[in-house]
Amino acid sequence: MNRREFLTGSAKLTATGLLFGLGASKLVKAGSTSIPNSTIPAVTLNNGVLMPRLGFGTNTLNGELGIRSVYDAISVGYRLIDTAHIYGNEEAVGAGIKKSGIDRKELFITSKLWVDDSGFEQTKKAFKTSIDKLGTDYLDLYLIHRPRGDVKGTWLAMEELYKEGRIKAIGLSNFEPHQLEELNSYASISPAINQIETHVFFQEKVQYPYLKDSVTQIEAWSPFAAGRNNIFSDPTLAEIGNKYNKSIAQVCLRWHFQRKVVAIPRSSQKAHMIENLEIFDFELSDQDMNTIVSLDLNKTQFPEWG
Ligand SMILES: NC(=O)c1ccc[n+]([C@@H]2O[C@H](COP(=O)([O-])OP(=O)(O)OC[C@H]3O[C@@H](n4cnc5c(N)ncnc54)[C@H](OP(=O)(O)O)[C@@H]3O)[C@@H](O)[C@H]2O)c1
Repeated sequence: MNRREFLTGSAKLTATGLLFGLGASKLVKAGSTSIPNSTIPAVTLNNGVLMPRLGFGTNTLNGELGIRSVYDAISVGYRLIDTAHIYGNEEAVGAGIKKSGIDRKELFITSKLWVDDSGFEQTKKAFKTSIDKLGTDYLDLYLIHRPRGDVKGTWLAMEELYKEGRIKAIGLSNFEPHQLEELNSYASISPAINQIETHVFFQEKVQYPYLKDSVTQIEAWSPFAAGRNNIFSDPTLAEIGNKYNKSIAQVCLRWHFQRKVVAIPRSSQKAHMIENLEIFDFELSDQDMNTIVSLDLNKTQFPEWG
């Protein structure tokens, strides 16, 4: 994001971002330097909390692989780490964080409440279990993983935890607009995030414009469609990448970034982790952004999770 874009950005939070790093301190509002020492641009969420616009996904990175991957990710510069109770890797993620030696304040840790733990009391217990496994005393972001079970009880518990300062921001995952609206009818805190499936093959024709115009920031899960539909050998993406001397992965992540969508790519390979961070030194043209629109299949690539 350039300085002009920053200065002319509306109060709408999805359009607002801050760049940490060289010379950026002037742009950062007082009290908003909660992610120091990172060059990854951040978005200001609807409660003023800063969130890196590019993070690290950990689904399937369990055990030793999880520890090593999280350690590597932090060592190459990731600060947003996305996990969930259902991934069964919160302990490994916590161990990777501990091994990195990084100051907790420099990290942005997300976890998610699984459907089996929905409801007011269960949510409080599940939150405590998650933070204990992660080895932290607070979460930066806690999401309702799916709109199932006692969503209202869950949300009210999350609001309490938020007010107690145990969670810096609360949000949703896999909520459709009508489900988000229902939640907003009783919520006293608007969700900061909706983490949904979106990538070049599923551009979310309905959800994307809806969220873009709301105070709820969009976050993309499976920003590479987890490799499905041969994304990493797609000829259109390869041709676009060649113009900028960038890989297909970098084109995809830059596309998310230019759509102002937070992305959390997963990788178990350090070289890929580094490659995925190198997206802030080029800009896809409007023409290339439009070409990518033509790749939309307008449907989930994970029908088994429906
Ligand atoms: N809220 C939800 O319901 C939900 C659902 C699914 C996922 N998520 C979150 O979103 C995160 C990301 O989604 P995902 O894990 O499904 O998949 P993804 O990030 O879309 O894709 C991961 C795949 O891409 C490969 N990859 C990564 N960088 C690459 C590169 N530069 N070049 C070539 N291949 C590359 C990885 O292989 P290598 O390991 O070989 O690099 C891996 O096979 C998850 O880890 C999780 O944190 C949330």
